Amino acid sequence: MANYPELKGKVALVTGAGRRQGLGESIARRLAHEGCTVIISDIGHANGAEMPTHAVGTQSEMDAVAAEINAAAMNRGQGGACHAMTLDVLEETQVKAVIAAMVTRHGGLDILINNAGVGYLMKPIAELSMSEWDAVLGVNLRGAFMCTKYAAEAMVQQGRGGRIVNIASQAAKSGFPFAAAYCASKHGLIGLTRVTAIEYGKHQITANAVCPNHVTTGLGAWQNEYFSNALGMSMDQYMTAMKGRIPLGRAGVPEDTAAASAWLCSDDAKYVTGEAMNVSGGEEVH
Ligand SMILES: NC(=O)c1ccc[n+]([C@@H]2O[C@H](COP(=O)([O-])OP(=O)(O)OC[C@H]3O[C@@H](n4cnc5c(N)ncnc54)[C@H](O)[C@@H]3O)[C@@H](O)[C@H]2O)c1
Repeated sequence: MANYPELKGKVALVTGAGRRQGLGESIARRLAHEGCTVIISDIGHANGAEMPTHAVGTQSEMDAVAAEINAAAMNRGQGGACHAMTLDVLEETQVKAVIAAMVTRHGGLDILINNAGVGYLMKPIAELSMSEWDAVLGVNLRGAFMCTKYAAEAMVQQGRGGRIVNIASQAAKSGFPFAAAYCASKHGLIGLTRVTAIEYGKHQITANAVCPNHVTTGLGAWQNEYFSNALGMSMDQYMTAMKGRIPLGRAGVPEDTAAASAWLCSDDAKYVTGEAMNVSGGEEVH
């Protein structure tokens, strides 16, 4: 059963939602469950050394996720709810075209979830190249800015308010070794969130960030391997140490971030904007 009936019929765009078991997939499932029409989008193809095949949500994965979400919606008697569209968040023409298509085909854009992110490029500062820095800052910050700019424009024209949720990270609040570009981009995403909230509040558009701690998605699993190797620990030792740091005693799951995102889109959160909300089992407390 839906928790937020007011979300029925809202139109949502989730970026970077093409990878199986990623946060984007889970957020899309949750918003569809709440009755939204959801556009899941992703770059859909590998893109040079900085964006290898194993890090990318492919078009076929996206199509399969959309089909599953639609099948679940049909079972609930809701009708088709999900559509997959290719969208590289670094390509301005694609961002504009996808938003224009949503307005024409689905009657608008009410919710933007800036979820696309690059978290694979972990290196000590001394070894991090400028092109690696640019790749991370590009997707995580420039891409979120571009989607925000054009989505907010569409929301203002519609005149019915809107919700922007930026999937930041614990790395938006604290520093982590070998993650200079990632931490800088996620700290910057909170700055973008705050300015968006201030500039668009008068249009009843809220902007908030969600800051998950570790979640074992495809990206999270890769990070576990990287950090356990870097620290000379076995995977079991690393995961046990991680759980020991988290007051609620477990790593995050995608549904935690999806639930926080859905709440931020609901009427219950209509007076919440400019926030950066930890979803970390108490690991991050500021
Ligand atoms: N997994 C975690 O532990 C964790 C924790 C905190 C925050 N996050 C953030 O959550 C978001 C989702 O992460 P995830 O763990 O599901 O990882 P993921 O790698 O499964 O998802 C990231 C997605 O972004 C897409 N992407 C990359 N470049 C793109 C581009 N130019 N245009 C469009 N899409 C692009 C990828 O194809 C991929 O599908 C990211 O922003 C990540 O930084 C993840």
